[in-house]
Amino acid sequence: AAAAGGCPVSPRASAFDPFGPAYQADPPAAVRWSRDEEPVFYSPRLGYWVVTRYDDVKAVFRDNTTFSPSIALEKITPVSAEATATLAKYGYAMDRTLVNEDEPEHMPRRRVLMHPFTPEQLVHHEPMVRRLTREYVDRFVDAGKADLVDEMLWEVPLTVALHFLGVPEEDMATLREYSIAHTVNTWGRPSPEEQVAVAENVGKFWQYAGTVLDKLRQDPSGHGWIPYSIRAQREHPDVITDSYLHSIMMAGIVAAHETTANAAANAIKLLLENRSVWEEICADPGLIPHAVEECLRHSGSVAAWRRLVTRDTTVGGVPIPRGAKLLIVNSSANRDERHFDHPDEVDLRRDNATDHLTFGYGSHQCLGKNLARMELQIFLDELTRRLPHLELVPDQEFTYVPNTSFRGPEHLWVQWDPAANPERADP
Ligand code: HEM
Repeated sequence: AAAAGGCPVSPRASAFDPFGPAYQADPPAAVRWSRDEEPVFYSPRLGYWVVTRYDDVKAVFRDNTTFSPSIALEKITPVSAEATATLAKYGYAMDRTLVNEDEPEHMPRRRVLMHPFTPEQLVHHEPMVRRLTREYVDRFVDAGKADLVDEMLWEVPLTVALHFLGVPEEDMATLREYSIAHTVNTWGRPSPEEQVAVAENVGKFWQYAGTVLDKLRQDPSGHGWIPYSIRAQREHPDVITDSYLHSIMMAGIVAAHETTANAAANAIKLLLENRSVWEEICADPGLIPHAVEECLRHSGSVAAWRRLVTRDTTVGGVPIPRGAKLLIVNSSANRDERHFDHPDEVDLRRDNATDHLTFGYGSHQCLGKNLARMELQIFLDELTRRLPHLELVPDQEFTYVPNTSFRGPEHLWVQWDPAANPERADP
């Protein structure tokens, strides 16, 4: 076999399958061979060049001209004609959002839209996140057993996302289905029949986003990113277009919701698997911000991201032709021992944990990173204080929605002895 550039493809490169069980179970472990032996390789199955070392992944993120983000949300599996027709039926017209937009358009939009993400603005959301988290924990605190994903970690970030965007809270159950469909639609490998079902949900999601946007246009005086953007449109109609608003309305929900829900489930799973670390943060909650960063590094919720090569270039010394597509495996970069000492260990005292690339890097770096951090910190704060004796239900099998990029267990069963809850003993 030969790569797009004519280079021979090694047996491991040709066997690489990001939808197979090894990558689904543990992406950085599945590409360890690549970090060690062939850090930039062409995957004939995927039709992408795969980049796995820290320095190379960062260099690709840093140069968004040579490595265009335009394919970041492109469907990774070619769509059937039937699925395309289904999307068309709903008038689906997802256009550029910030994350997949080239310069010179991207930066002016990012500047106009970023104010609600600043730390001063985010402070206003903290009481809402705290209140929601407490309410959800209240519901199961005496039960002794819970699926944290179903009973808390999925819905709280969704509600926070809706508040942040300024969207009404109704239709949550439907939205949950819609956003799962969106992940499979974009990053998964659905069968032809599944594609149509997925497209139905994505189409409905799109229409729902449009309806809410119309509602908010009637009165855009409220808090939230969308009302803010509607007001910004009046001053910058050429920068913030209608199609743009509709696209960020839908993409914003996905960006803010699933990433954070998955990051929280990954973090709690990782900490409970590393009991001594969990106990350390129970004893000293001041360590929680470090724990959040270390969990994002070790088990982040975005495993890989994509870029399109716009001119003949090299990555890590390997020639890559113009037009090539890159899968940059940031989860692998985060476990590269060339950058992080003992990268597979969970170490709260690591001094460079924040160098992780889970939020990307450079001019597209995640705008919502501080909102996500706040949520994760509050979740850990509430759980370690109220349920320090929490443990994973033994022998459970963790399952993941098969896709290249968004990663978190579908369920996370935990158990504890309610009689030992500290608040009960010490009211
Ligand atoms: C962009 C990850 C939470 C909004 C991104 C990118 C990644 C990412 C990998 C692309 C970065 C790049 O190309 O360099 C995550 C993770 C999250 C998270 C892992 C949770 C743990 C959020 C939240 C919001 C959000 C809560 C919204 C409230 C955005 C936006 C962009 C973005 C608007 C596009 C920025 C741009 O292109 O200028 N995120 N994200 N994200 N994220 Fe997040």
